[in-house]
Amino acid sequence: MEYKIAVIPGDGIGPEVIREGVKVLRAVAEATPRLKFKFVEFPYGAEHYLKTKELVPEEGLKELSKMDAIYLGALGDPRVETGVLEQGVLLKLRFYFDQYINLRPVKLYPGVPCPLKDKGPEDVNFYVVRENTEDFYVAVGGRAKGKSKASHEVVRSIYQAKFGLDIDVDRDEIAYQIGVISRKGTERAIRYAFELARKKGKKRVTSVDKANVLTHIYSLWREVFEQVAKEYPDIETEFAFVDAVTMWFVKNPEWYQVVVTPNMFGDIITDLGAMIQGGLGLAPGGNINPEGVSMFEPVHGSAPKHAGKNVANPLATILAGQMMLEHLGEDKVADRVEQAVIEVLREGKVRTYDIGGKSSTSDVGDAVVAKIEK
Ligand code: NAD
Ligand code: IPM
Ligand code: MN
Repeated sequence: MEYKIAVIPGDGIGPEVIREGVKVLRAVAEATPRLKFKFVEFPYGAEHYLKTKELVPEEGLKELSKMDAIYLGALGDPRVETGVLEQGVLLKLRFYFDQYINLRPVKLYPGVPCPLKDKGPEDVNFYVVRENTEDFYVAVGGRAKGKSKASHEVVRSIYQAKFGLDIDVDRDEIAYQIGVISRKGTERAIRYAFELARKKGKKRVTSVDKANVLTHIYSLWREVFEQVAKEYPDIETEFAFVDAVTMWFVKNPEWYQVVVTPNMFGDIITDLGAMIQGGLGLAPGGNINPEGVSMFEPVHGSAPKHAGKNVANPLATILAGQMMLEHLGEDKVADRVEQAVIEVLREGKVRTYDIGGKSSTSDVGDAVVAKIEK
């Protein structure tokens, strides 16, 4: 079996962590006679953009469509205006391939320091299913001063009607950004969460939103959640507000099994989730289109201040590789990677600075490979 894997190292620490991820995948392929990978590297990111002004070209998308999966480091570089690479590469790929699920396991492994007092691996082990193509990520909005256009006039009249505030778009500056969700987009994300719960033997799905304030958008979300939940009577359900959930993740993480949430809240609560599993250096994620090309990456970004120093923790990326293997149907091989990571963490001899060690990025990759070879 040969899998074609697109590799996009990207920016900052991206290339360093993805190098270790690929190293580990090569090692499991070496150890599994029937398994082969063909890695095809794509240059998208800051360097490529600064040289060519190109983000992801049409023919690049065509090439990527032929792959079995995409393995990505991170995007974002201080030399490029914020948002250009993040939207032009990362979000472009998530949207183009309709990767409508962002699956982010929050799992604390034995031996990993957890900042929560009296909590251990048995308390932190759940999944966040983040809707990945809608909500405030749809890029509908505008910003204007001194030039009116129809959409700005609409915003102005809303202000006037609601608050009696007269905004003259020719004089005052305005900015607005609109969140949009669809019944279809919401349903497929929520259904995925329930199916995941069944598959992983979880008994509860928590829907996280802010329906008390953003009533238009999240009343639809709640309605769909209740509808889908009816098809899964074996699974307990609940609603939680996103502000409260940040508190509960810290206070009672053991309560959570599967959490499903719209795009932006999913982004925010998974950085918190990362911290309770030992930090961003350990948190993997998958951008999944169950019928298309999926993309696996760490939850963290390009961490520019650590770039090029061989100090970043590659385990999040290595675990994203494990998720990619599972997605490809290679469950046993995926387990082998996870077991190797677990052993390295349990021994605690080789670890990067973020979890209290002094080892380098490549030392950690080598240690995982050594466990796989054993
Ligand atoms: P970040 O996740 O890049 O880093 C925040 C901090 O977390 C780092 O400074 C570091 O202390 C720690 N950290 C992150 N990854 C680590 C690792 N592997 N090992 C050890 N420590 C690690 O977030 P940021 O600083 O807000 O963003 C930097 C850039 O990355 C921005 O351009 C942002 O837009 C982008 N970004 C990209 C992605 C992505 O590609 N998926 C995700 C988040 C942020
Ligand atoms: C993430 C990142 C991205 C997001 C940014 C860089 C576009 O924060 O993958 O969590 O918001 O989804
Ligand atoms: Mn994020």
